[in-house]
Amino acid sequence: MTIVVVGAGAMGCLFSAFLSRSKEDIWLLDKDKDKAAKINENGISLEGASGTWQAKVKTTANIQDIGKSELILLCVKSFHTKSAVEQIKPLMGQNTRILTLQNGMGNIEVISELAGEERVIGGVTSEGATLLDAGKIRHAGRGETIIGMISGKTPVEMRSIREVFNKCGFETKMTRDIKALIWSKLIINAGINALTAITGLPNGKLTEFEGTKRILRDAVTEATRIAKRKRVKLLYDDPLAKVEAVCEGTAANLSSMLQDVLRKKRTEIDYINGVIVRLGQELGIPVPANKFLVDLVKTIESSYGSAAR
Ligand code: PAF
Repeated sequence: MTIVVVGAGAMGCLFSAFLSRSKEDIWLLDKDKDKAAKINENGISLEGASGTWQAKVKTTANIQDIGKSELILLCVKSFHTKSAVEQIKPLMGQNTRILTLQNGMGNIEVISELAGEERVIGGVTSEGATLLDAGKIRHAGRGETIIGMISGKTPVEMRSIREVFNKCGFETKMTRDIKALIWSKLIINAGINALTAITGLPNGKLTEFEGTKRILRDAVTEATRIAKRKRVKLLYDDPLAKVEAVCEGTAANLSSMLQDVLRKKRTEIDYINGVIVRLGQELGIPVPANKFLVDLVKTIESSYGSAAR
């Protein structure tokens, strides 16, 4: 099958490098021409959890280089989902599936609206990656990838995707309850990402300080209250213990939001803690810790270049 990975950031490079070990036809598509040309020529270099290795991946900024594709894996930031789906329309044939493993909430809905729900596969991954330079990444941590559809169905195309992912080295499972999966990951991101972005701490340090521990606990408790009201059955019984375990399991990771802030880039705050704030308002549930995190991250974003540090 032809698989197109869209977005040559940390996760896009990680997935296209691993997928290039399969016998499928793999493409990496990025709108930045220079970056695409550089990766096309030099390949992708990885270091870290899977060792030090190189992958050759056909990379382009020109969608016309690629034909109709069976799978499109979206690895763009959530605020680019809509424009990315509009741009990849020429790649879509009758049986094309679009897979999103993006952080945050709302991506499945945006893709469904533009491309049809029956095409969309959602999921989460515990694989971690840090972008070092164009086409150079650190594979920061290993973990499973879980995929599923809103309908709860597990069509043959999804089973083939699971097989390809497993064969190329990503431990991948399917779920019939994608809502539970997305919420379970959202709560982890709501507890970790903004706090690391504000403090500059790696994930593992959040549980070492009284202040961050308390704010993490409050943000997770609020998000869990919202999930309960939405009747979501989370994949773990004790959300706080789970988030603390993820901090420990990914101790040396710089969260994706901290990486964004360090590069002075827009963050996915609106799709993580911002979702909790919006739903809190809608449902009349107070979410002060999440509101505080959103306000601070937005302040950091607005003051890039003018803050003292
Ligand atoms: O966004 C991230 O960085 C990751 O989802 C997580 C789980 C917080 C680990 O760093």
